[in-house]
Amino acid sequence: MTASLGSSIDNLASPEAEQTVLEIRGQSTLAGEVKISGAKNSALVLMAGALLCPDECRLRNVPELLDVARMGQILSELGVSLRQQGDVVDINARNLSESQAPYELVSQLRASFFAIGPILARLGVAHVPLPGGCAIGARPVDLHVRGLQAMGAHVDIDGGVVNAYIPGSKKRLQGAKFYMDYPSVGATETLMMAATLAEGETILENAAQEPEVEDLANFCISMGARIKGAGTNTITIEGVPRLHSSDYSIIADRIEAGTFLVAGAITKSEIELVGIVPDHLAAAVAKLQEMGVKVVSTGRDHLRVLPTENLKAADIQTLPYPGFPTDMQAQFMALMTVSEGSSAITETVFENRLRHVAELIRLGADIRVKGNTALVRGVPALSGAPVLATDLRASAALVLAGLAAQGKTTIFGLHHLDRGYEKLEQKMQKLGARLQRVKTSAKLEASNGNPSVESVLQ
Ligand code: UD1
Repeated sequence: MTASLGSSIDNLASPEAEQTVLEIRGQSTLAGEVKISGAKNSALVLMAGALLCPDECRLRNVPELLDVARMGQILSELGVSLRQQGDVVDINARNLSESQAPYELVSQLRASFFAIGPILARLGVAHVPLPGGCAIGARPVDLHVRGLQAMGAHVDIDGGVVNAYIPGSKKRLQGAKFYMDYPSVGATETLMMAATLAEGETILENAAQEPEVEDLANFCISMGARIKGAGTNTITIEGVPRLHSSDYSIIADRIEAGTFLVAGAITKSEIELVGIVPDHLAAAVAKLQEMGVKVVSTGRDHLRVLPTENLKAADIQTLPYPGFPTDMQAQFMALMTVSEGSSAITETVFENRLRHVAELIRLGADIRVKGNTALVRGVPALSGAPVLATDLRASAALVLAGLAAQGKTTIFGLHHLDRGYEKLEQKMQKLGARLQRVKTSAKLEASNGNPSVESVLQ
């Protein structure tokens, strides 16, 4: 059956979803195999990357997520046609005509700002609203803007909209050398995409090395782009005048995979992950091993987590890849709440990403926050309670904590989870977890010091 991405957004974002909560009965042992979906962060940026191509591109292994549906809607509003069949999405940007991205949608999805690079490269002009503030930090776009300026674009910000155009009659950006003050994932992606159609060579120094950046580069290469060094801190792009159609499969989601590894560890269970790239999980696996969890390789694209009785405390500092990912910080904090000893978690990537602390405390965790560090003292057991998901990865942390807790945990604010985890409860149920969505008219206020913020833009 062919469904449009637009229709799936309607289903996922129906007002009823707001009244649906996830009830978890904790302390079941899980067992079995779980197939990991395509990477959300790759899917979002590859969809933007398809704007570079004036022919149809096919993306495979696209996860069915609220964020992906939103991105599809933004592309449609830019004049692009999309067709979705299962996890295959065909994107035809031949008629890309609209240089103005819709405010409402961009403000809900930070990744859609990254489309400024391809829109500008294709049309010579782009107007994209600032993604705005969000629950996990201010997240400016100065590096995106400065990089485009280095490539010859004129950029101004007016009324909350970034307006960019390429001066002169040629309407092509000019290759440039650009040093990034910080290895921002999004800025690396914006600039790499813009540079594929520029005149001459672009060198991005101190670039982000995340696997999703490499995935985007490989997708662009499959369309005829000339890119070297993606996955290292120096990326060289030799611009070409035009890209061509391609058929490309997205990498597995390392954050979803890491979340299931922690699910195995926190429930003392044996779980086999299938369809992953184990190398992308090196930092998370190393930290699990330090905590006493056995993780073994069972195949080229498999990893198995084995039951662990005595979890030990460990310290974590989030860093750009290949350091420990900020997107796994909340899930590991859940694990540390029931590990023996004291753990310190320092968040260095985003300035306000410890909001799940208050919710974990509702479940009986012993956590104190000092600046950007959370000090977690392990307790023998958590106990179920109603909790509020404050952002995407915080939701996953609460699911994990609920799986470990005694009694019933009820998670409110499920729309965050639907943004980034494909069929999480079905996958968990298949492993033997006792959890289900139920409708409720009950309301849950945010914990003290934990304001409820609806727009989370990861
Ligand atoms: C991406 C991921 C997100 C992940 C993050 C870090 C997507 C859709 N999202 O977000 O899941 O948590 O990488 O791994 O891929 N910054 C600036 N100026 C800029 C850009 C960023 O100061 O122009 C700062 C941000 O405020 C933040 C830090 O750099 O403090 C990291 O942000 P960045 O790497 O850009 O993250 P995103 O691309 O937004």
